[in-house]
This record gives sequence, C-alpha cells and structure tokens, in this order.
Amino acid sequence: MAELLEGKKAADKIIAEVSEAVKREKCNLILAVVLVGDDKASELYVKKKEEACLKAGIASIKRILPADTQEEKLLSMIRGLNENPLVGAILVQVPLPEHISEKRVMREISPQKDVDCFHPENTAKLYEGDFELAPCTPRGIMDLIGEYGISLEGKHVVIVGRSNAVGKPLALMMLAKNATVTVAHSKTKNLAEHTKMADILVCAVGKRNLITADMVKEGVIVIDAGIVREGGKVYGDVEFEGVSKKASRITPVPGGVGPMTIAGLMKNTLILYERKKKWI
Ligand code: GUN
Repeated sequence: MAELLEGKKAADKIIAEVSEAVKREKCNLILAVVLVGDDKASELYVKKKEEACLKAGIASIKRILPADTQEEKLLSMIRGLNENPLVGAILVQVPLPEHISEKRVMREISPQKDVDCFHPENTAKLYEGDFELAPCTPRGIMDLIGEYGISLEGKHVVIVGRSNAVGKPLALMMLAKNATVTVAHSKTKNLAEHTKMADILVCAVGKRNLITADMVKEGVIVIDAGIVREGGKVYGDVEFEGVSKKASRITPVPGGVGPMTIAGLMKNTLILYERKKKWI
C-alpha cells in the first residue's frame, strides 16, 4: 500500500510559515478575489481561499459579479483594483462565463498584482527558469515533492494534461530540476504506454478513473491534481483503490494537491508584497 503524500499537512505548514512572515514583517497584505457567475465549484474554491487568507493573516476582499456581466465591466473592475494602492494581489477565478475572454482578462491584471502568474509578462519568466512567482498548482506540487524529499533528477515524469495553469508550467519547473518530462494530453495515442513509463505520474485533467492500476508501473509516485465533483463527493483523475496498491506514494483527493494550490496562493501573495517593497 502506498504512502500518502499529505497535501493538507504540508499546506498547513506553509500557511503557518506565511503567517509568521506576515507577523514578523508587519505586512499589510490584501488579496482581491473576483468571482463572475454562480458556479458552485468556484464558489467553494473562493471560500477555501478566504479561509486560508484568514489563517495566513492576509486580508481578502471579494467582488462578485453576475454571470451575464459584460467583459468591459469586468475589465474596468480589474483596472480599479490595479490602481488601488491597498490591493497587493488580484485573482479572477476561472472558468469565466463563455462570452468573456479569459486571455483578455488575465492580460488586464497588472503583472505586479498577478497572483496566479497567468499574465504573459510573468509566464515569460518561467521559460527563463525564474520560478520565484509561479502558478499556484505547479508551485504547490513542487512544494509537496520537496516536503517529502523526492528527488526529480533523472526521473521520468509523465504529466497528463497540458493546461496553462498546471501541465505546461509544471513541465518547465520539473525540467529545471533535471527530470525527463513527457507531457501527454487528450490527443495522445495509447496513453497507457506513456503512463506505464512514469517514475512520477502527475494527472491534471478532471476525468474520474482516467488512470487505472493497469496503466502504472509498480512503485510509481502518483500526484493527482484532477478535481471531479460527483454526487456531492470529490474525486481525482486516478482510480485510487487500485493504483494505491501499486504506487509507492500517492496523493489523496481531497487532501492532496488542492490544499497545496491554496498554500501556493498564500505564498504568491506574500511574494508580490515583498517584490513591491523592494521597488518602493
Ligand atoms: N480555478 C481553479 N483553480 C484556479 C486557480 O488556481 N486560479 C484561478 N484564478 N482560478 C482557478
């Protein structure tokens, strides 16, 4: 039976560290969270982000807009938050309603307040190997791997999912740690052939039971960043029962990558604040 990679514990530790830094440096951190529409999953994520802020000593302000909000109205709200000197970090929860361009919105957030690290000015730095600010989920996954002393050097990491928020930045971060990285995705043929090669398998798709025991090798380390809600329960991409019998280590869902993403957000909020202090 695999050892659990307990994201919740590691995340609590990181949030406590952020809270210590906030107290020590007497930081005045304000994170603005914008939510458009009434997607239940998004509402829950935002609630969890607010709870983490409370623990970390970060003030959070929430702006809620109806689902039929015009893009220009959202952009104008973002410009207002950009100009507000009290707000240090801005997060616009995705997915956004279909009539709003996510790309346009992410480009409107000031790179200095882009806590998700989605603005091209910030993502460009990832290509240079500068991960001081990094998207919250990959940052959380790297921190979890670090917490358990897992070395990436020379390991074959297979990432299933190529999103801008997880798969792509994570591939860059793992390459920088000298892993050999394969990125598989929805058009990959014979997915199992790739996943079976993995020393470390990361899944970030959002499809329940995508990865079953026959698709992994004995002793694999499994990081499940998938989130699927079904019948009031949360599942990952990995069929946990079977895969955990073959894996050496595995993240649970819930309680694995999810809390690490939130811890990554708290860290990023602090990093933006410290950067700003250097410029003043
Ligand atoms: N929706 C789900 N995860 C995230 C995230 O990390 N950031 C934003 N902005 N929206 C999300």
